Amino acid sequence: MSPENTGPAAVIVLAAGAGTRMKSRTPKILHEIGGRSLVGHALNAARALHPEELALVVRHERDLVAAHIAALDPEALIVDQDHIPGTGRAVEAALEALDARHAGGPLTGTVVVTYGDVPLLTGGLLAELVAAHEAGGNAVTVLTAVLDDATGYGRILRAEDGTVTGIREHKDASEAERGIREINSGIYAFDAAVLRDALAHVTTDNAQGEKYLTDVLALARAAGGRVAAVVTEDRWQVEGANDRVQLSALGAEHNRRTVEAWMRAGVTVVDPATTWIDATVTLDEDVRLLPNTQLHGATRIARDAVVGPDTTLTDVEVGEGAKVIRTHGSGSRIGARASVGPFTYLRPGTDLGETGKIGAFYETKNVTIGRGSKLSHLGYAGDAEIGEDTNIGCGNITANYDGEKKHRTIIGSGVRTGSNTVFVAPVQVGDGAYSGAGAVIRSDVPAGALALSLAKQRNAEGWVAANRPGSISATLAEAAGTTTSSTTPAPTEEG
Ligand code: UD1
Ligand code: CA
Repeated sequence: MSPENTGPAAVIVLAAGAGTRMKSRTPKILHEIGGRSLVGHALNAARALHPEELALVVRHERDLVAAHIAALDPEALIVDQDHIPGTGRAVEAALEALDARHAGGPLTGTVVVTYGDVPLLTGGLLAELVAAHEAGGNAVTVLTAVLDDATGYGRILRAEDGTVTGIREHKDASEAERGIREINSGIYAFDAAVLRDALAHVTTDNAQGEKYLTDVLALARAAGGRVAAVVTEDRWQVEGANDRVQLSALGAEHNRRTVEAWMRAGVTVVDPATTWIDATVTLDEDVRLLPNTQLHGATRIARDAVVGPDTTLTDVEVGEGAKVIRTHGSGSRIGARASVGPFTYLRPGTDLGETGKIGAFYETKNVTIGRGSKLSHLGYAGDAEIGEDTNIGCGNITANYDGEKKHRTIIGSGVRTGSNTVFVAPVQVGDGAYSGAGAVIRSDVPAGALALSLAKQRNAEGWVAANRPGSISATLAEAAGTTTSSTTPAPTEEG
C-alpha cells in the first residue's frame, strides 16, 4: 500500500448500462460536461478517496469505453459484466475480479459503489459517506436524497424508529411505497465481507428480472448488520445524466459551480451566465473574464489578464496582464502583457512573446513571435518565426504552401515590413530589414536592406471617357477636368 492509499479498500464504478435514452452513437458515459466525460468526472470523485483499488464495470460498447478509461486512468481495473443484468451482478463481477488479484485473499474493509453517469458527485461527499459508514461500524451505508418527484427511483424503506430496513425499486413498489420521497442514489459504502455474502443470495426474482444491488440492504440487516443512510441536501450530486435534457441541466449546474468557485478564488466574472469554464482550466487571482467567454481544455490564465468579451480559448496559455479580445484560439501561448484581437484566429502552435500584438483580422498558425513584435492588422502568419521588436505591416501574408508542401518564413528582429508584403516561403529576412508596400519577397533579404518589388505604374489618360462613356465615373472625371501630368509616379513605401 503506497502512502496515498489511505482510503477505502476499493471503489467500484458501474458503467455497463446501455444509456438508450441518450439516443446516441456515443456511449452515454463518454458524453461530456465541463470538458470532461461523465465517466471522467466519476473517476475523479473516486480517485479523491485514494482507494487501494479502483474498478469499472463495463459491457455496452465495451471496447470504446475501456479504451477511454485506460487513457484517463491506466491503473483502473476494467471488469466485464456477463449477460446477467442488474447492478448487483455488476458489483459481483467487480468484487470477484478484485478478490482474484488481491494479495492475501479476498478484499476486506470498505467497498464504495458509484455510477459512471453521476458527474456532479464530489470526492468530498463520498468521503463523508465513508466516514459515516466507518464511524458507525455499518454493514451498509447508502447515500440518499429527498426529492419532490421520486418517480423511477428506488425508495428508502425505514422502520418506525427511522432505521433503514431496505430499498424498494419503483417498479416493485406498492402504491404506499411510491409515496416515499427519500430515494436511493445508487451510491453506497459496504463492508466487503457483508457485500460478498449478501450478493451470493440475491436473486433475479423481481419486476425487471435483474440482480438488484439494492437487495443487499435487507439481506445485510437480516444477517445482523447495521444499515444506515447519509441524506444529502445537494440533489445535484446524486443526479444521473440519462438523456440530453439532463445532460445539459447537469452541464449548466457544473458550470455554475465552477464559475462560482473561481470567483471565490479571486477571479472577476462579469457575466457568469455566459461564461463557460471547463473543469480542467486554471485561473490566477485577479483575472478578469468578460461576457461570452468560453475556456476549455488545458487553458491557463495568469494574474491580471483580461479575456473577452466573445472569446473562446482551448488549450491556450495567457500570460500575466495580457489582453485577449473577441478571439478564437487553440493550442497557443500568449506572452505577458501581450494583446490579441479583436476578431483574431489563433491556430495551434502560435507563440506570441511578451508585450507582442496580434491584431484585428489576423490568422496565425505554428508561428513564434518574439517579444514586442506586432502583427497589427489583416493578415496571415503561418509556419514562421519572427524576431523581437519587429513590425509587420498591414495585410502581410506568409505564402507558406506551394500546393504540395509547407515552407517556413524566418523574419529577424527590428524588421519593418510595408503593407501587403507577401513572403513566398521558404525565405529569410535579416535583422533591421525593410520591405516596400506590396513587396513580394521571393528571395532572402539581407540585414538592413530595403526589399522592393517594383512594377512601374502606367496611367492611361482618358481611359474612362473612352471606355465607360456616360457612367458616373466618366461624368465626375469630366467635371474634375482632364489632367495630363506625368504617367510615371514614384512607388510608395510604408513602414
Ligand atoms: C438504480 C437503483 C435504484 C436507484 C437508481 C439511482 C438498483 C436495482 N436500482 O436504478 O434504486 O434509485 O439506480 O439512479 O440498483 N449498471 C450496470 N450493470 C447493469 C445495470 C446497471 O453496470 O446490469 C449501471 C448503469 O450503467 C448505471 C447504474 O448501474 O450507471 C444504474 O443503472 P440503472 O439501470 O440506471 O439503474 P436504475 O434502474 O435507474
Ligand atoms: Ca439511472
